[in-house]
Amino acid sequence: MCGIVGYTGKKQAQQFLLEGLAALEYRGYDSAGLEVLSPDGELHGVKCSGRVATLAERCKTANLVGTQGIAHTRWATHGAPTDRNAHPHLDCTGRIAIVHNGIIENFQEIRSYLRQHGHTIATDTDTEVIAHLIEDAWAGPAKGDLVAATRNALARLRGSWALAVECADAPGEIVVARQGSPVVVASTPDGAYAASDAMPLAGVTKHVISLEDGQLARLSADGSVQVYDADGLPNDHPMTLDIDFDASAATLGGYSDFMAKEISEQPEAIERLLKGRLTEHGIELDELSMTKEELASIDRVYLVACGTSYHVCLIARELIERWAKIQAVCEYASELNYKEPMITDHTLCVIVTQSGETADTLTAAKRMRAMGCKVFAITNVLGSTAARESDGTMYVQAGPEVCVASTKAYTAQIVAASLMTLRLAYANGSMDTGEIQRRYHDLEQLPDLIREVLSRRWQDKKVAKAFRKAHSALFLGRGVNSTTAYEGALKLKEISYLHAEAYPAGEMKHGPIALLEPGFPVVAIVPADHVHDKTVSNIQEVQARGAHCIAVATDGDVEVAQQCEDTLWIPPVPEEELVPVVAIVHLQMLARYVALERGCDVDKPRNLAKSVTVE
Ligand code: G6P
Repeated sequence: MCGIVGYTGKKQAQQFLLEGLAALEYRGYDSAGLEVLSPDGELHGVKCSGRVATLAERCKTANLVGTQGIAHTRWATHGAPTDRNAHPHLDCTGRIAIVHNGIIENFQEIRSYLRQHGHTIATDTDTEVIAHLIEDAWAGPAKGDLVAATRNALARLRGSWALAVECADAPGEIVVARQGSPVVVASTPDGAYAASDAMPLAGVTKHVISLEDGQLARLSADGSVQVYDADGLPNDHPMTLDIDFDASAATLGGYSDFMAKEISEQPEAIERLLKGRLTEHGIELDELSMTKEELASIDRVYLVACGTSYHVCLIARELIERWAKIQAVCEYASELNYKEPMITDHTLCVIVTQSGETADTLTAAKRMRAMGCKVFAITNVLGSTAARESDGTMYVQAGPEVCVASTKAYTAQIVAASLMTLRLAYANGSMDTGEIQRRYHDLEQLPDLIREVLSRRWQDKKVAKAFRKAHSALFLGRGVNSTTAYEGALKLKEISYLHAEAYPAGEMKHGPIALLEPGFPVVAIVPADHVHDKTVSNIQEVQARGAHCIAVATDGDVEVAQQCEDTLWIPPVPEEELVPVVAIVHLQMLARYVALERGCDVDKPRNLAKSVTVE
């Protein structure tokens, strides 16, 4: 939520600021703004509600000149997404500007204090108070030192922040700070950069410094970066990260939207993830950072996540229970944080988070660790907070996912969870080497099976028309594919704004069946598995009410095809537990086509953000 960028150096700042915001727009796109320090010694800015493209349009006429600036793309928390509430925010003198990602919990109290002390508050945001606190510190105890003034202000705040500050009286300098929200900085011969993540920096450097909580950094126009620890002392060995993707990975590369691109990248993502994992001793998963004895003693697994990643957990639960014979519990992170988890002395907590920055998931991980659990993270983002705050981390290596609705990270995370499960199953003796090898070779078939489904996208395009007049849809599935139903419904909701519900098929008659009427779209996931016939009975119940049934069925299933108005065909999958990885690809494409039919922006659905850094 919210993206920040900053630059000070030799080049004109505006171009990088706008391009950087565009690369971070998946974090929020309610409003955007930038503030550049001009050669006349004044800050000049443009900000507006709406997208980065609108800001770029406004910048054409504003003609902002200057080699230093900060910028922001917003996902509103405090105050409506208006021009006035867009960042950067200024102090009373108009000489200090700030951009912020996070939440200042005690902003009301500080705002009253500031008003009593003569400050004029111009916006409804929580962020603005920081600019005024820095103003006081700059004029008082920290005069002439922007790092000291920022530290002084931050000492009064409660909450989370990644922020960048510039001051017209400290030209050539930007101060960046982190507490709970991510920010990286980079030193280059052309200047020093800051951004919420490495994506905007992939074109200018291969290495970034990832600030840790409590740290600040001073970026200087000569390109140098000095990091300071929470105690104010310089830290000459900050955490550096290599950028593990090419700048072109985050471009459309000929596709009409990122969702289309990312759906089609799933086979390669899974191939990368599987490569080199099978050894003569089973599955290679050193990332777990646990001894064989520790792994063998695990008697409960808590799977914790939000959104699409929670659906990965539901599938992982089935895998862990069926393959590794370990009891597994799934929890939404936002729920777990207010519960008393029933952990044992040998409970493993697995957090799944593509961004590695979801606030609820991070809080849950911290809590589980404090309770004595080992925490293992499955994530897509190198060096993310989840990786730092866990005992072990597995990167799914799906490459940058720009579309807000997750697709390739979802399937890659399921495959990562499958590998982890095989490792656990081998360690506790639930599977022998031969069994592990067989399951691994089944996983290796997934990329080609997905390629086959991708080649059938015309089926989804045709079926999408059935949703033209729909005001709602129902998704049904049984067993492991009840999760495919949940994820299919979530994708449809997220990007097409069509209401969709998902139920285990057997539960339909306990309520959702009341929704059915002629033409009502029902998507039934009914592959060739051990619950096939039961799901077919549910399809008959749907048909009896005249609803429009769309099946996701295995090639050759004539019985199902005859009973349904439409069928989305999947090739046979060697393990029924792995069907979700293949079947979901149809539902991703279906959701995209329905959204396009309805004129929606599939990459940036309203109200959503990809990285949810507030609880
Ligand atoms: C947001 C995104 C979802 C994502 C969820 C969890 O809601 O829009 O696509 O599934 O956050 O994100 P995470 O990064 O933890 O997987």
